[in-house]
Amino acid sequence: MDSFSVPPSRMDKEPYSHILGYPKATKKELARRTLELKKLGISRIVFGGPTILNNLPVLGKGYVGVVVLSKMGKKDVALKIRRIDSSRAEMETEAKLLGEANKVNVGPKLIKSSKNFIVMEYLEGKKIIDWVRDLKGRGSAKKFREVARKVLEDCYSLDTAHLDHGELSYIHKHVIVGGSPCIIDFESSSLNRRTSNVTSAAQSIFIGSALSSAVKKIVKVPSTARMIKSLKKYKHDQSRENFDQVLQVLGLD
Ligand SMILES: Nc1ncnc2c1ncn2[C@@H]1O[C@H](COP(=O)(O)OP(=O)(O)O)[C@@H](O)[C@H]1O
Ligand SMILES: [Mg+2]
Repeated sequence: MDSFSVPPSRMDKEPYSHILGYPKATKKELARRTLELKKLGISRIVFGGPTILNNLPVLGKGYVGVVVLSKMGKKDVALKIRRIDSSRAEMETEAKLLGEANKVNVGPKLIKSSKNFIVMEYLEGKKIIDWVRDLKGRGSAKKFREVARKVLEDCYSLDTAHLDHGELSYIHKHVIVGGSPCIIDFESSSLNRRTSNVTSAAQSIFIGSALSSAVKKIVKVPSTARMIKSLKKYKHDQSRENFDQVLQVLGLD
């Protein structure tokens, strides 16, 4: 389907209302949300992207939100819309955590937020698992190593900032690779937990997941015992030295 766009004032009408208030919202809630969108300065909602929801193409869907491409003036942005059936009561907490990640240059840049929306940098690209599966030809291993290294460096930055992402064991859904790889979705993040970003991400990329199976076709992965040993050491003491050792064992230095 070709992409097309509508102004916020159309979002409370069928069929767009099913996206503004997914899966189903009252007229009152739709009216509130339409006003909220206008206040945020969203000028158009663009229907386009790889996920089809109620016959409309969007950028993606999770349990908390539906993400659609939007325009803020001329600028492309990603708009995360809180699902009506989400377990979260608001989006400001997630926005705050994304802002914390941005402080160490991780995650899509936060632009604005409100009760039901997060406006952030739009990332063009593919989910890391699709990116790895589509890698082929000469230079694949090198490209993969660069991406894996950047992801783990970002995880190290999050560890240093005491921000635990919370879902990096499912990293295939949480990194978009386009220009530079970017970690997304801080809805399960916390500043009050022991951080396990590097260890979760490394395990998910190299040890046991759908992604690691695809990775093993691109690069030679060291023995699980060697990887676990260096990750355990890092887990115990999250120093730069121990992180560098992890990179070395993984062949990413
Ligand atoms: N900044 C973004 N740019 C482009 N696509 C995005 C962006 N943020 C999220 N997406 C897409 O939307 C999907 C759902 O977003 P996510 O934040 O994971 O929602 P949830 O918290 O509900 O899991 C993602 O898997 C991704 O495909
Ligand atoms: Mg998610």
